Amino acid sequence: MLNKALKALQNGEFILMFDDEKRESETDMIIGAEFVTGREVATMREDAGGLICCCIHPDFCDKLKLPFMTDIMNAATEKYPVLGELIPNDIPYDERSSFSIWANHRKTFTGITDNDRALTINSMAKLCKEERFSEFGEEFRSPGHVSLLRGANNLLKNRQGHTEIGLAMAQMAGITPVTVVCEMMDGKTGEARTIADAEKYAEEHDLVFLDGNIVIDEYLK
Ligand code: 5RP
Ligand code: CA
Ligand code: CA
Ligand code: ZN
Ligand code: ZN
Repeated sequence: MLNKALKALQNGEFILMFDDEKRESETDMIIGAEFVTGREVATMREDAGGLICCCIHPDFCDKLKLPFMTDIMNAATEKYPVLGELIPNDIPYDERSSFSIWANHRKTFTGITDNDRALTINSMAKLCKEERFSEFGEEFRSPGHVSLLRGANNLLKNRQGHTEIGLAMAQMAGITPVTVVCEMMDGKTGEARTIADAEKYAEEHDLVFLDGNIVIDEYLK
């Protein structure tokens, strides 16, 4: 199953990734950012319905000098004390989130359309792949409509979220480690899609469904 998922990523296809019953207990659609067009954004919006986020490998983040949102908030607390009151020290399923800033490509209009978000996402991958890190601010503005997520240093050794699972998969697949994740929601229950439901979707759409623990075990061995 792992090899099939790696092939799918190389082919620019979605994979479905469940994290863990003891964590978010969510299935995310994941795809390499370099392959994303407006069509894939539409699929995530319509079929997954969660937040469309762009995950960036920590090595790229270091070169882009891209901080976690919490680091920005900490740095700004003296001037804006309310930011200190908002510290996310009570996330029920993890110690910290991977949220960084929000961004739009400067050539987007509103930033939210499928084509605009696709441009932001695939340009992010391109910028990193071509190692044009110093052009980050030239090419993007913030805030924007794509949530950038910073992968933890050493990926799965330090954090085991969809952010790190997807980036580890991208690395293993040999594609640019900039990925897109979007949680699969269930509009009927108002909750996350169940595993059974996500597996059914995978079957119907000929996609690979994978348990994140398989990736974690492979990465850490
Ligand atoms: C952003 C999220 C998602 O759960 C996404 O999967 C990334 O987060 P994590 O790495 O914590 O799983 O919260 O919409
Ligand atoms: Ca999360
Ligand atoms: Ca607006
Ligand atoms: Zn997640
Ligand atoms: Zn989530």
